[in-house]
Amino acid sequence: MSETIDETTWQQLLAAARAARERAYAPYSRFAVGAALLDEQGHIHAGCNVENAAYPQGSCAEAGAVSAMVLAGGRRLQAVVVVGEGHEPVTPCGGCRQRLREFGPGDVPVWVADSQAVRGRYTLAGLLPASFGPGHLSDFPPDHAPDTPR
Ligand code: THU
Repeated sequence: MSETIDETTWQQLLAAARAARERAYAPYSRFAVGAALLDEQGHIHAGCNVENAAYPQGSCAEAGAVSAMVLAGGRRLQAVVVVGEGHEPVTPCGGCRQRLREFGPGDVPVWVADSQAVRGRYTLAGLLPASFGPGHLSDFPPDHAPDTPR
């Protein structure tokens, strides 16, 4: 079970994701996204989308944040915030749902927001039901804290 995240921490996550979004490199789509992750130690890791002239080589904000978390030693998600501007709440793309799921159980909260407000509150399992994860593999890495698939 994930811990309850206090309001101050949510505000820090929102601020980190909004600041990351300001650093987005998105000259092709002009669609800037920021993400912030809270790890098992209470540390926050942020990322932004980084596009490429060879379009498929671009990467999402969540992917950058996951890389930052892993590099810093984080292995388990407690909370996720994604920030983008649009008519619809900017939920993580399908590939990023799987990327996040690698490091978090289904009850990890995922908030999506824009510069003004939180636009949606989800869970990982709500965004990616019946998911495939590390627990499905018999030889998943020993430093990974496994969870039961859900
Ligand atoms: N993007 C993200 O960074 N995260 C998402 O969850 C949705 C989409 C980026 C990818 C691309 O650079 C731009 O937004 C438009 O799709």
